[in-house]
Amino acid sequence: MILKSKDVLGLEDMSAEEILGVLEIASKFRAVFDRPVRNVPIMRGRTVVNFFHEPSTRTRISFELAEKRLSADIVNFSSATSSFKKGETLRDTAENLAAMKIDMLVIRHSSPGSARYLANVLDCSVINAGDGAHEHPTQGLLDIMTMRQRLGDLRGRKVTIIGDIAHSRVARSNIWGLTKLGAEVTLCGPPTMVPAALARLGVEVEYDLRRAVAEADVLNVLRIQLERGAGKTFPGNREYHRMYGITEEIVRSLKPEAFILHPGPMNRDVEIAGEVADGPSQVILDQVANGVAVRMALIYLLSGGDPGALGGVH
Ligand code: CP
Repeated sequence: MILKSKDVLGLEDMSAEEILGVLEIASKFRAVFDRPVRNVPIMRGRTVVNFFHEPSTRTRISFELAEKRLSADIVNFSSATSSFKKGETLRDTAENLAAMKIDMLVIRHSSPGSARYLANVLDCSVINAGDGAHEHPTQGLLDIMTMRQRLGDLRGRKVTIIGDIAHSRVARSNIWGLTKLGAEVTLCGPPTMVPAALARLGVEVEYDLRRAVAEADVLNVLRIQLERGAGKTFPGNREYHRMYGITEEIVRSLKPEAFILHPGPMNRDVEIAGEVADGPSQVILDQVANGVAVRMALIYLLSGGDPGALGGVH
């Protein structure tokens, strides 16, 4: 059994073996994407509810595509059109959904710990699709998959995560996953966005962008999360771009084989220059494609899918 828990709540909870096991299955599903027919019938008769309480483009559509490609039945739930508006609690809503006999709940919510809270009260599997500033495990896994496609084993590889670390669930999932796989992680951004205490997680903290990226194999550039108050932690977008933006000049200073990730959505010309976002050093759309494969792998494994039975899908 690759996954030990019924739920996927964060990479803090997963071992290196579990992470690598999921990525191996994801690479089998990824190979299916190049076929004319991308659907496989292995989740027929299972029901997954996508329970999104925050805006999302990539994660919501990626989960939905992953579920459809596995032939699962899907229900999409949005808090904006639900009885949340009438004061129903998160737990009551989730228990009502579970009473309708669902197999899995995918939740995005602004409160850290919301996915774990529901996992503790529901019998079905829960996947965290982002809980506040806590974790975004499927993003962490797809980022790691994208890095491994280019670099192979990540032991000793240098990954610099740049930007709004304080508000970033993506940063936390990257830090847990990458350090478990032996990568050397550096965090960089303005001191107001990169708490020095994060060094306790086994990472370096460097406030000078040029020093932080000089030896990096990978840059993971994070979005400035204006909706979580990040705008108050620096004087303005132009100032941020001048100090910490990934510009063509910064790209020219990198090791020639270094490459750039961004989890999206991007603030063009704030954390990343438009030319870099569209340029040859970035792998942003590879990340998006890998996201579907990672989510297929997790849904398959949490449903009791046999890793050894996947010979036919690739
Ligand atoms: N990367 C990410 O979580 O994007 P969305 O907010 O669009 O889902």
